[in-house]
Amino acid sequence: MILKNSVGLVTGASRGLGKAFAEALLKKEAKVVICDINHEEGAITKAEFDEKYGPSQTTFVTCDVTSPSQLKDLFSQTVQKYGKLDILCNNAGINNENIWEKTISVNLVALIQANYLALEHMRCDRGGQGGSIVNVASLSSFQIAAHAPVYTATKHGVLGFTRSLAEASKLGNYGIRINALCPGFVNTSILETLDQEEILGMFYQFKDMAKHWINLFGVLEPSVVGDAFIQLVEDDSLNGAAMKITSSKGIQFENF
Ligand SMILES: NC(=O)c1ccc[n+]([C@@H]2O[C@H](COP(=O)([O-])OP(=O)(O)OC[C@H]3O[C@@H](n4cnc5c(N)ncnc54)[C@H](O)[C@@H]3O)[C@@H](O)[C@H]2O)c1
Repeated sequence: MILKNSVGLVTGASRGLGKAFAEALLKKEAKVVICDINHEEGAITKAEFDEKYGPSQTTFVTCDVTSPSQLKDLFSQTVQKYGKLDILCNNAGINNENIWEKTISVNLVALIQANYLALEHMRCDRGGQGGSIVNVASLSSFQIAAHAPVYTATKHGVLGFTRSLAEASKLGNYGIRINALCPGFVNTSILETLDQEEILGMFYQFKDMAKHWINLFGVLEPSVVGDAFIQLVEDDSLNGAAMKITSSKGIQFENF
């Protein structure tokens, strides 16, 4: 896929990985709609992008992805503003074992909802122009984690959903490539929460597990994961792929 003048939508893009994915697209001269529930950080990020890439290249939309109506409006606003949608990056995510139903709502339910909205806009067999969807999973899609069972369940779910929808897209000639990006630990605010009792809840006693994995895999910078994301979007041969990326081993595609 050629990214110049394409239109991307990134959820949870006020900070962290979402911001890095948006910026990676902007560097390729794509137009990007960034959405986030946090509008204060969103406004700061939008101002930073305006300065670097020009105000017409990005739009910030305040959106709670767990609200079906807000999510629907987000897609409508994207197409109204830029005339099309080529790339969706489902990045918004939380890791709270205390409010575990909310974790499932954000990480899995909303992600599925957003995939279905993207299909409506992109499907070639329904008059769309095709496109690329990247669902942000995790190394937790492949591993167990005593300190984070629900987060782990959501990321296993994201991977299974992504691969299955990718197969449906292939068999149904949707013209949409759907892939999972599975990073190890990345230097964002989520990392600071991994030993907090209010986040880990009844699994707080296992907080050192995360430290063990961090020592094993290292910590990536968001911009490195941003470059890997671009590879998934640009490479037209990839559909249903799970790209793992860690500081210690770099990029590896899972063999299923
Ligand atoms: N940081 C890591 O080590 C790591 C590793 C693997 C996967 N991930 C995944 O990467 C994604 C981004 O995480 P991050 O590390 O950048 O975390 P982060 O907390 O820095 O960023 C998450 C962003 O999502 C937004 N968000 C949360 N709930 C939302 C909602 N309901 N609606 C809209 N936006 C919402 C937040 O406001 C925030 O801006 C998540 O899906 C996470 O699971 C992170």
